[in-house]
Amino acid sequence: MFAKINGMGLYGMNAFPVSAEISTSGGSVPSFDIVGLADISVQESRLRIRSALKNAGIATKPLCTVVNLAPASIKKTGSLYDLTILTAILAAQDIIKIDVNECAFFGEVSLGGDINPVHGALTLTIAAREHGIKRIFLPAANAREASVAEGTEVYGVRNIRELAFHLSGESEIEQQRPFIPDFESTCGLLDFADVKGQENVKNALEVAAAGFHNVLIIGTPGTGKSMLSKRLPLILPRMSFEESLETTQIHSVAGVLDTRNPLVTTRPFRNVTHTASAVGLVGGGSVPKPGEISLAHNGVLFLDELPEFDRRTLETLRQPLENGEINITRAGGMATYPCKIMLVAAMNPCPCGNFGHPAKKCSCNERQVQAYLGKISQPVLDRIDIQIEAAPVSYTEISDKEKGEPSTSVLRRVEAAREIQARRYSGTAVKSNADIPAGSLREICILTPDAAVTLKNAFEKLGLSARAYDRILKVSRTIADLDSKDTIEKRHISRAIQYRSLDKKYWWGV
Ligand SMILES: Nc1ncnc2c1ncn2[C@@H]1O[C@H](COP(=O)(O)OP(=O)(O)OP(=O)(O)O)[C@@H](O)[C@H]1O
Ligand SMILES: [Mg+2]
Ligand SMILES: [Zn+2]
Repeated sequence: MFAKINGMGLYGMNAFPVSAEISTSGGSVPSFDIVGLADISVQESRLRIRSALKNAGIATKPLCTVVNLAPASIKKTGSLYDLTILTAILAAQDIIKIDVNECAFFGEVSLGGDINPVHGALTLTIAAREHGIKRIFLPAANAREASVAEGTEVYGVRNIRELAFHLSGESEIEQQRPFIPDFESTCGLLDFADVKGQENVKNALEVAAAGFHNVLIIGTPGTGKSMLSKRLPLILPRMSFEESLETTQIHSVAGVLDTRNPLVTTRPFRNVTHTASAVGLVGGGSVPKPGEISLAHNGVLFLDELPEFDRRTLETLRQPLENGEINITRAGGMATYPCKIMLVAAMNPCPCGNFGHPAKKCSCNERQVQAYLGKISQPVLDRIDIQIEAAPVSYTEISDKEKGEPSTSVLRRVEAAREIQARRYSGTAVKSNADIPAGSLREICILTPDAAVTLKNAFEKLGLSARAYDRILKVSRTIADLDSKDTIEKRHISRAIQYRSLDKKYWWGV
């Protein structure tokens, strides 16, 4: 007897069709073999399936069974093939009475016969749909997530008895209703209205949010650097459905998705502690998993106390920040994870924190300050478009009873600036001003004559690098967009230059 059941495989974010071909024959000694580049984790599925069938009370005839996971040229790893293989056995045992040609099955089988969730259900479902699959049978805990992929019928399977009854036509598993995401939810997000003073920093964060620029906030302790950064999510433009799907798939593959609310609809804000390893930050492992930078895709990666991070760990961010994606190569293949992020970092100016404070004395010597600042290399600094100083808040400001401008009104300006960008870049791969390719910069960032003079003077006086020049142009484009101006004026460029002048103050002209 021969049968073939559709399943799906996953490597990184790449999902591909895999089918379980089963061939059985009567023999004096029953056997069960799996072939098709199946690694040890797949070989173990024989034990899970045997035990599950027994514990679920599904009687099987003793047969010589060979399962081939096709295509046999691709390495198979993990437990998601359990359900594909088990369904193939149900077919070989003549239990399946309905047509399963356009169905796909994947999920992990437990010894007791329950179906356990797997990572990457949404990516697997989308890919299955693209390969002509009309109905997906997967673990019940993954069903909501999979239902986000429109155009396929999703059936959440709790245990193999339920599946056997469904496939034999005795009773039906109910189809999962499509999950309706809430794109308006802002629950738990912090408001800018709580921050007293710090108008400069708030303005800089508004520009950053509008153009998706990387930001560094420097300031003495207690000036509100962490507090301000954590208030970014509420002024970031709403996510599009496409962006939401992209980010959700990364979270799903990493296994960090909330199964009750399985579509990421607010931009991620990943607050990473300085003890993070390079693998934790950019991804890796023997089966490559996404790191924090990819979990932050379409949102913010927040690195508080930046100089406390291991210098080499910070250096690993350089390539992904530039490319917007990260490739991890292993013996089993290459996994590519997107990581288009806004990097937000905060730091003190020196080990004691008081360097540059108008009243307090810094107790560090010059060498200590230099060593501290030197932990952030020039190439990393170069990738930060906006540097801003959080000055100590005055007594008048902190004792003020009035609330500041609420985040919702800042968001309105940010979204208006994003709409201008969306129109300007429609039909191209560019999404925001931070992404403008070097080749198009001069054509997109048109300066008025006096703005051009201001930029020339600053370039010569501050000894700016070509990279800094490009970044000033991009940031000034965002400032002009927030001001609804097509041409970049002197005040726009001046502010953008001001956002680049801190490395001269702190990094001694490196
Ligand atoms: N501008 C501000 N408006 C209102 N409260 C503030 C402000 N700045 C600081 N605070 C208060 O001080 C606390 C500390 O602020 P925060 O942790 O953001 O400072 P920080 O600059 O990150 O300091 P550190 O360098 O020590 O990390 C906040 O939780 C808040 O209560
Ligand atoms: Mg802090
Ligand atoms: Zn100091």
